[in-house]
Amino acid sequence: MRAELRDALLSARATTERLTARLGDAQARAQFDPGFSPLGWHLGHVAWQEERWVLRRCAGERPIDPGLDGIYDSFHSHKGSRGRRLPPLVRIRSYAALVRERLLAFLERTDFEGDLLAGGWVFRFLANHERQHAETMAAALLLGHLQPELEVAPPVAASAGEGWCDFLPVEGGRFSLGCDDDPDGWDNERCAHEVELAPFAIARQPVTNGAFLAFLEAGGYRDDGLWSEAGRRWRDAEGVEAPLHWRRGAGCWERWTLGGWRPVDPSHPVSHLGWHEAEAFARWAGARLPTEAEWERAAGWEQGGRKRRFPWGDGAPAPGVNVALARGDTAPCGSEASPCGAEGMGGNVWEWTASPFLPWPRFEPGPYRGYSAPWFGDRHRVLRGGCWMSDPAMARTTFRNWFEPQVRAFPAGLRLARNR
Ligand code: AVJ
Ligand code: FE
Repeated sequence: MRAELRDALLSARATTERLTARLGDAQARAQFDPGFSPLGWHLGHVAWQEERWVLRRCAGERPIDPGLDGIYDSFHSHKGSRGRRLPPLVRIRSYAALVRERLLAFLERTDFEGDLLAGGWVFRFLANHERQHAETMAAALLLGHLQPELEVAPPVAASAGEGWCDFLPVEGGRFSLGCDDDPDGWDNERCAHEVELAPFAIARQPVTNGAFLAFLEAGGYRDDGLWSEAGRRWRDAEGVEAPLHWRRGAGCWERWTLGGWRPVDPSHPVSHLGWHEAEAFARWAGARLPTEAEWERAAGWEQGGRKRRFPWGDGAPAPGVNVALARGDTAPCGSEASPCGAEGMGGNVWEWTASPFLPWPRFEPGPYRGYSAPWFGDRHRVLRGGCWMSDPAMARTTFRNWFEPQVRAFPAGLRLARNR
């Protein structure tokens, strides 16, 4: 277990370091969007979480610098002021290295006894915490038009296809939502419980850029009938008329990627949509967003009532699954299929669901009480499936991500559903 935990921590750190290797001090301090913390803050915050959980709570060490709590604790530092109060990048890096050294030394000697240490929980939590921050950092790099030290795969030629509007039937009935025993599982996934689903249909593939372009060119952004009232208000206030990171180029739409500007590729799934745009598109297509229960059932539920850990199966990502920054961008939908035949449900782009982020019945917060509970309610919508930036742990069929409907900085698109 020690070696596995060490590897998880090291690989998470390798990713955040790769994303920030080229960063200068000013870039580390810059805030590219009011909703996004500076890149340097993320580096300090993930280290501070390690200090707090392992060095202070498990190893009983004194704080390295008590002044850091007011900067790196997300609940006690205002996002807007994080850049100004941030130490210089070299100091952030040396603090992170010091914490890491002590943490790894503690990992070598711990007996894994006690609430936080049993089963290696605290180390797994910290590795997964850093992996989630790595994803937010990659999203921030896109916002800042910074290019990390990362190979971005060249565009692949693929035909666009109609998989986005090819509907697969899914049987209704009782189905177990959530999971209790996943070592990477978070508190909000726990308390698996049966829910009754009406029969529904889910699209074989996510909505493509090609399909979204058709919506855009048909005037979908201006057709008020396709938008909810809240959606119209948001669209008008923000002047939204295309996905985030799109611009009208010479003769075609272009998309900002970690590899620079690229023509919008009709075969890739559409990404960087807010929830309202996803909803308007679904209405235009005569369909709707799936609920998260429908999504989870379509992604993982096998004949006989067993649930897969990932849409593609239980083990390592199938070839063609687009996760972990391996390609550095979206890619045409892979052909690996979930039990109901839906393709590409893991990785590539997050998929917005219709559901608000609510606790499962009998929810109990985990040791990190601030992870889920403060965010429950209908201010946030649930996304499922992970994206090309995500660690595979986030592409698990029960993993729940959540953002406010207006958030477009993550590679999020949609997959259509409808009643049968
Ligand atoms: C699950 C992605 C919504 O970034 O706000 C990181 C993850 N929580 N540190 C977030 C998280 C605490 C969370 N999301
Ligand atoms: Fe965090």
